[in-house]
Amino acid sequence: MELLLLFSVISFPFAVRLNVGSAAGSSLNSVSPLASGKSIGRHSAECHHMLKHLYNGAQVAVHMPPNITGQWVSSSCEVRPGPEFLTRSYRFYHNHTFNALQFYYRDNHCTEPTYSLLIQGTVHVQQASWVIRGGTEADYQLHRVLLFCHTSEAARDLSAKLRRDCGLEEAVKPKESYELWDHATGRDCTGPLGFSMQELLLLRVERHYRHGDPDSQTKELLLGDLHTDVSRRKVHKPSSYQPPLQSIKHDHDHSCIICQIVSRGSLQQPPSLPPQANVPVRVQGHWVSQRCEVRPGILFLTRHFVFNRDGHTWEGYYHHYSDPVCRLPTFSMHAIGHYSQGQPSAKVMGGTEFVFTVTQMKVTPLDLATTSLLNIFSGDECGTEGSWRLGVQQDVTPTAGCAALGIRLPHTEHELFRMERDAYGRRLLYNGQRPTNGSSPDQPHKRASSYQPSLVQCSPGNHGGTNTGREGDQHFRLGGGCRGCHSDRRFHLFALLIWPLVILQIM
Ligand SMILES: *[C@@H]1O[C@H](CO)[C@@H](O)[C@H](O)[C@H]1NC(C)=O
Ligand SMILES: *[C@@H]1O[C@H](CO)[C@@H](O)[C@H](O)[C@H]1NC(C)=O
Ligand SMILES: *[C@@H]1O[C@H](CO)[C@@H](O)[C@H](O)[C@H]1NC(C)=O
Repeated sequence: MELLLLFSVISFPFAVRLNVGSAAGSSLNSVSPLASGKSIGRHSAECHHMLKHLYNGAQVAVHMPPNITGQWVSSSCEVRPGPEFLTRSYRFYHNHTFNALQFYYRDNHCTEPTYSLLIQGTVHVQQASWVIRGGTEADYQLHRVLLFCHTSEAARDLSAKLRRDCGLEEAVKPKESYELWDHATGRDCTGPLGFSMQELLLLRVERHYRHGDPDSQTKELLLGDLHTDVSRRKVHKPSSYQPPLQSIKHDHDHSCIICQIVSRGSLQQPPSLPPQANVPVRVQGHWVSQRCEVRPGILFLTRHFVFNRDGHTWEGYYHHYSDPVCRLPTFSMHAIGHYSQGQPSAKVMGGTEFVFTVTQMKVTPLDLATTSLLNIFSGDECGTEGSWRLGVQQDVTPTAGCAALGIRLPHTEHELFRMERDAYGRRLLYNGQRPTNGSSPDQPHKRASSYQPSLVQCSPGNHGGTNTGREGDQHFRLGGGCRGCHSDRRFHLFALLIWPLVILQIM
């Protein structure tokens, strides 16, 4: 009773039904903590509030075309597929040239630098991307890539790679810089390092500020993602983003200490981040997205995970949208299943292995396009044939999933998790990056070696004050003009065609 009341009080854009009866009576054979309605209800209310007010109550403006002039730096130790641990400090000039510094490390807290790259070139911002709404395409050209090793171990390691794959005769020495790329002769020795600047093909600049407080403004630069298969990096066309870089100029509140440290790094003097202990992975509780997330293949979504106290059952709510600020819902999925926590990863320092299984799935179409797509699929492939109605949830477990959405049940995935605390002491949960080729990590060797954007634990009082912020893409709309209307239509058609191929990306 209390549960229902809570849900009706929150003006969530669509109803999420927590069916206590069916969860408790499912084949999971466990006492669902949903039975403890009071605390779950309170947490859910909190999580819904956080999802509704993404970006912590700050207003977000997206500038089209983006102005990338200035210095942009990592706000944490980043993990790239491989894994690679790095921080970035990129500087873009008015005259379209750029100096990008990439600092690589031995450890997952970026305390021990191994080598650094200085990349110089030009970048030209082009038109709005119609594949990734809200993104802008750009072209780049490299002029120079310099390598500088900080330790003799790193120098030995890279020497071996460069000798094997690039015919480099002399050994690389530490504390000396080497040209890996020569624009004039076309010599390219960046391959053995898995180096690529394809990230510059997709850009997005977000300005975050609190209402009436211009001093709190921060600017973020999102650059294109990297292919999870390192050998495909050089030819990959980004279809989502890496973690945002922060503008140094606009970091007025100095809350980002790591940004300050990274911004002072140079090729010869790489930044070392303060050492910290790994935060033990304890997933129990509720976790929600901190921003409108982009998945490869034009999907925008927010996620809400519940890991039950029994330590082996979980639920996930996936709210999908057609727009980059997550305001226009298309459909939602509610997955239920079990999981087991494994060993610390031997491959990815700081990561912990998990195995997830989805046994039950409910789907709610939330726009007309998705509703008709679901109805077009005939037979027993997705719920009751032809019965889908806008805003009405159906359990697709009896049809072993939903062919239209590419969902097959039961479904098992091999996962990688890590945990961290943010600058405000809140716990953050990261789970594995999905393979870029759209496959599912359904075998242990496909387990991720990098992570998706973090989820934050939702608990009462976590939602950053009383600001009822409004996420806006007004600049995007103004800039879009009529070409925007046209690409919207194309976007929609494209979405319909490609959906069955890309949807099942649980987690
Ligand atoms: C872009 O940003 C830079 C630095 O913030 C500023 O100096 C410049 O005037 C801006 N350019 C445009 C065209 O707005
Ligand atoms: C572009 O501007 C930067 C900084 O003002 C300067 O160092 C560089 O030489 C300029 N490059 C060109 C090609 O004009
Ligand atoms: C997709 O990527 C996974 C993980 O990298 C790999 O194991 C699989 O073979 C790839 N599938 C295709 C069809 O390329």
